[in-house]
Amino acid sequence: MTAKHPSVGDFLRGRTLLLTGGTGFLGKVVVERLLRTAPEVERIYLLIRPSRLTPPERFEAEVVRSRAFDTLAAMHGDRWLRLIRDTVVPVAGDVSQPRLGMDDETHAALTQSVDIVINSAASVAFDAPLDEALRHNTRSVQHGVEFARACRSAALVQVSTAYVAGQRTGRIPETALTPDISAREMAAVEASVAATLEEARAQGVAPRELRAQLVALGMQRARELGWHDSYTYTKALGEMTLERSRGDVPTAIIRPTIIESSLRDPAPGWIENLNVGDPIFIEFGRGRMPDFPLGRDAVFDIVPVDLVANAVLAVLPHVGDLRQRAGYYAVGTSSTNPLSGARLYDLTYEYFLRDPMVDRDGRPIPPPRWTFPSPEEFRATVAGRVGREADVKRLLHLAHLYGTYTNAACIFDTTNTQQLLASLAAADRDTLDFDVRRVDWRSYLQDVHLPGLRRHILRDDQRRRAYTRD
Ligand SMILES: NC(=O)c1ccc[n+]([C@@H]2O[C@H](COP(=O)([O-])OP(=O)(O)OC[C@H]3O[C@@H](n4cnc5c(N)ncnc54)[C@H](OP(=O)(O)O)[C@@H]3O)[C@@H](O)[C@H]2O)c1
Repeated sequence: MTAKHPSVGDFLRGRTLLLTGGTGFLGKVVVERLLRTAPEVERIYLLIRPSRLTPPERFEAEVVRSRAFDTLAAMHGDRWLRLIRDTVVPVAGDVSQPRLGMDDETHAALTQSVDIVINSAASVAFDAPLDEALRHNTRSVQHGVEFARACRSAALVQVSTAYVAGQRTGRIPETALTPDISAREMAAVEASVAATLEEARAQGVAPRELRAQLVALGMQRARELGWHDSYTYTKALGEMTLERSRGDVPTAIIRPTIIESSLRDPAPGWIENLNVGDPIFIEFGRGRMPDFPLGRDAVFDIVPVDLVANAVLAVLPHVGDLRQRAGYYAVGTSSTNPLSGARLYDLTYEYFLRDPMVDRDGRPIPPPRWTFPSPEEFRATVAGRVGREADVKRLLHLAHLYGTYTNAACIFDTTNTQQLLASLAAADRDTLDFDVRRVDWRSYLQDVHLPGLRRHILRDDQRRRAYTRD
């Protein structure tokens, strides 16, 4: 990676992007960063699927009015709404469908004009029903690369996850997954989904029960093959499918670890929904998690969302070089700024001791003392520590979903990402910094992330001023 590349702003001048997942947590920060660093970008199309609202209505309600844009709105004052509406244009689509679900006219127009596709859409639930996960995390990747190929000469940035590595241990390299099992596996697993659906139809299985069967099928298949869950398994199949089908489309694959609230931008602690570690933080603060299988020496790899978005932008001037070989970039902290389970626990404990949540009667909830049991010890002892059966079930479910992440025995190598960081143009070094070594865990957890969760998700902080944009 050389320094011959222009700044992101210069590179994007006059170019057109298509972003999927723009209504999501990472997607909004990517849009914010694009508008901040590349004001002369020609257009950013956001692919949005219809819900009760049409895509333009969703764009107004979920993107334009998102607090992710507070800082930009304040910077631009009266011109803000015009700027965002002129530059960012919603288009109806669905990544799970061929041609990204676009109608003929939109597909024809966009394939004529799009220079870069950033494919961030996914179904991020760890235990989505298998058919859903395959559509949103595997087929969607194929549709993204097919779209990029249909464009005149578009490049592709695919947002994946570091945990495509599954249950591998040790140092995980920034390289393609091998062996590529995707073609055979997709055929087999889609046949098994079809058989489950057919059998359910024949037996009149209720939708809820069918969903549970498809969830179980996904988790079982994933674990049989060495992944944690159906999310990472279908994302891994997506990466393999991309390698197999991208032809000569220049491609960068970004592999974030666990994305949490922003370090700086759009504002410290900004977060929109519960991410991987968050149910655990919240349950802990509420005193509803007396213990958990968190490995004392395990490295819990979390990374603030703005650092991931900055890395996505930083790669853009380089993607054109990644035609012969796709570039893989892990964005995480385990190799250069590791946060051990013990330190994560201590800092979180300290924070809730100092600033406890309160129960219904306004009494402070003392944070629990954890004993760092192994997953097996936890399963064996939890019933003795928690009286109510419903609580035991809840904790076992959380341990089932998250236990592999809180006991991970791997480190994500980030050599490529560090080279990308070193190659940032001078103009981008401040605005697009993604040096994870600068994350001070005490300050991030205690002053940024945990207060951010309480402010934006739990909305339990009455001491802060109510939000007013205007
Ligand atoms: N969050 C993490 O900790 C994490 C870690 C590593 C990697 N990643 C990756 O980062 C990317 C963004 O994740 P996120 O945290 O921003 O997730 P998110 O907040 O759940 O956003 C997901 C986005 O994907 C869109 N989407 C899902 N299925 C779609 C479909 N069929 N057609 C069109 N859009 C669809 C969603 O649209 P709707 O608004 O319509 O639902 C939403 O905009 C994903 O690729 C994820 O795998 C996330």
